[in-house]
Amino acid sequence: MEKPYMLEFPRHGDDRGWLVVVEGLSDIPFDIKRIFYIYGSDADVVRGKHANRKSEFVLINVCGSCKVKTYERDGTEEVFVLDKPHTGIYIPKMVWKDMYDFSGDSILLCLSSEHYDAEEYIRDMDEFMQEKDV
Ligand code: TYD
Repeated sequence: MEKPYMLEFPRHGDDRGWLVVVEGLSDIPFDIKRIFYIYGSDADVVRGKHANRKSEFVLINVCGSCKVKTYERDGTEEVFVLDKPHTGIYIPKMVWKDMYDFSGDSILLCLSSEHYDAEEYIRDMDEFMQEKDV
């Protein structure tokens, strides 16, 4: 079973500022099929609250900060802080994630290995814990 982990991306800096590169299948372990981003979430909001049967994700807080709590089916829980635009978290399939503690200026960029398919989302924690691998 793959585990979530933090990533640090290459930065190109000069007197004009920084440029960060995230290439599919090299900087992150999948080809990028979908990009979406989340902003305007209040500090007391919890987003996510689901696992995915197929999609893998990389989440990058390109502005501001938030936290991601992951739950694995072996009972492992971890909290990751996303507060730098050149770091991110890799979340494999079949890992439950909650995103929370959004700063007012947070923009959370999400890269995914799959196109959107509502059917592959598991939004019930008990169902997630009991789901057998296919
Ligand atoms: P939702 O899964 O609730 O967001 P979060 O993971 O932040 O809790 O998605 C919010 C809405 O956006 C919901 O109606 C589904 C829709 N949506 C898409 O149409 N395509 C997508 O790729 C995503 C991620 C969401």
